[in-house]
Amino acid sequence: IIMDGNGRWAKKHHLPRLSGHEAGRKSVKRVVQAAIDHGVRYLTLYAFSVENWQRPREEVQGLMGLLRGVIREELSEMSKEGIRLRTIGRRQDLPEAVREELESAIEKTKGHTKLDLILALSYGSRVEITEAMQGMAREVKAGKLDPDQIREETVAEHLYTHGIPDPDLLIRTSGEMRISNFMLWQISYAEIVVTPVLWPDFGEEDFAKALADYAARDRRFGGI
Ligand code: FPP
Repeated sequence: IIMDGNGRWAKKHHLPRLSGHEAGRKSVKRVVQAAIDHGVRYLTLYAFSVENWQRPREEVQGLMGLLRGVIREELSEMSKEGIRLRTIGRRQDLPEAVREELESAIEKTKGHTKLDLILALSYGSRVEITEAMQGMAREVKAGKLDPDQIREETVAEHLYTHGIPDPDLLIRTSGEMRISNFMLWQISYAEIVVTPVLWPDFGEEDFAKALADYAARDRRFGGI
């Protein structure tokens, strides 16, 4: 899910942008529960992009604080619900306090199998692909990888998402018709649902509707 529209929601309600993100946090909770109820096995949320570091310092700090709080406050709930927390992105860019909170939650939830909740943090698809190429180039240089043996699977194994299946459905809230550097490789055959609903207003019913839209699609994967 590309969770967009927190800022617009805040503006609409004459509130500071951070209040929009706080309201967005409640949507995260609702949608994680809805995903479990609907039997979704993997849910990836685009929470912070590599581009988002360019936002005003105050907003970046606010988001990082929010993130740290969510992980700390929701850890026991995640364990109770059987949620495995994972991340994709440049975890090394995150403030140390956030990283420690994350790493501890990842470790504590790693045995859970009900839902993999994957937070894209300091994530960018192009940087992901670039880092994968660097990794493969290093292996070629070390004589561990034969360039002629590089397959699509080889590339996939070098992405942050190795071991995670490609998404079947991509949801974007708040109406914008763009991908914003999100999982470019992985969404090759994903169905796309864009809803005008702003992320803080997005709830269980909207999620169910996106799933119903998805279920009505005829997926051909390039066949006929
Ligand atoms: C996009 O809205 C949203 C973000 C950049 C941050 C998403 C963060 C949360 C929902 C907070 C909690 C998240 C987790 C996973 C704990 P925007 O600010 O770009 O909105 P705008 O386009 O209307 O300005």
